[in-house]
Amino acid sequence: MKLCLIGYGNVGYGFVQVLWRHGPWLRERFGFAPQIVAVHDVRRGTVLAPEGLDLEALSRAWLENRDLGELGRGGKGLTAFTVIEESGADVVVELTPTDLRTGEPAAGHIRFALAAKKHVVTTNKGPVALYGKELLALAEENGVCFRFEGTVMAGTPLFSLAEFGLAAPVRRVRGILNGTTNFILTQMEAGKTYEEALREAQRLGYAETDPTADVEGLDALAKIVILANMVLGGDLRPNDVPCQGITGLSAPEVHRAPKEGYRWKLVAEAVRTEEGVWAKVGPERLPLSDPLAQVGGVLNALTLELDPLGAITVVGPGAGPEVTGHAVLADLLAIHRKQR
Ligand code: HSE
Repeated sequence: MKLCLIGYGNVGYGFVQVLWRHGPWLRERFGFAPQIVAVHDVRRGTVLAPEGLDLEALSRAWLENRDLGELGRGGKGLTAFTVIEESGADVVVELTPTDLRTGEPAAGHIRFALAAKKHVVTTNKGPVALYGKELLALAEENGVCFRFEGTVMAGTPLFSLAEFGLAAPVRRVRGILNGTTNFILTQMEAGKTYEEALREAQRLGYAETDPTADVEGLDALAKIVILANMVLGGDLRPNDVPCQGITGLSAPEVHRAPKEGYRWKLVAEAVRTEEGVWAKVGPERLPLSDPLAQVGGVLNALTLELDPLGAITVVGPGAGPEVTGHAVLADLLAIHRKQR
């Protein structure tokens, strides 16, 4: 499997680290040995290497902030489209920063790659929240896969659970879907200021390139729309969903709540009804007895309700370069297994 990476920021670097560490095991266990044959990043430049890039050299280039062109054939002027076309890759891994308003530039890259009959794996929430069903249909039309495990709960498996592990319709999902705000709220409970906690979330690579999307609830909104449409079969657009973030919560209020038997959490929910699917996002003051109140730090959690299982809750890391990189690798492995 030959990979073309479009976007080489935190998640791209995290992906390369996980591939590097677990490559030998993946080869031995599944006969799966993906090669990175092209990387394109608007800031770091481009490298095209049909023979496959050395992961150590690729990691070093990232850490030392060097132009990727130094690793092989490349150059600053190439567009993502040219790189996708010339890479000879079977799979395009789209990892550019999320734009929840337009889905670009990722949506354009994904449409182009699918139309060229290349599989696509992405962690970018914009195109999936805005055009998920259209992109899945385009993939189907072209006989390729479109996978997006890392868009919700990062490397904690959700879509593969729904795809391979469930045999009945999900009627409701409710959970904590933004790692940055959960981390901030947990830190504020411990006495940190909002600004300190946000800076730390940015340093750890949890926050979006523009963290407004996290703290205003828009990241959780994109994720609940993706779940509503892709798992519950809804047809929601982000604008259809009432959304409030955590910026209206005061530090003393968040700090005091546990002493009163509560905890503030940013909760996202989607429900399938006779009339269709609805969703909402907003801060909730949960009693400590609510399982979601026990989910702290960068952890996310999602409870799925379906007959006859009742409720299944998945808890795991919801943000971070390597854990999101793991989602990319899991999607690539799913494509590899499907092809065999
Ligand atoms: N900024 C996101 C979060 C990254 O904090 O959850 C993972 O989607």
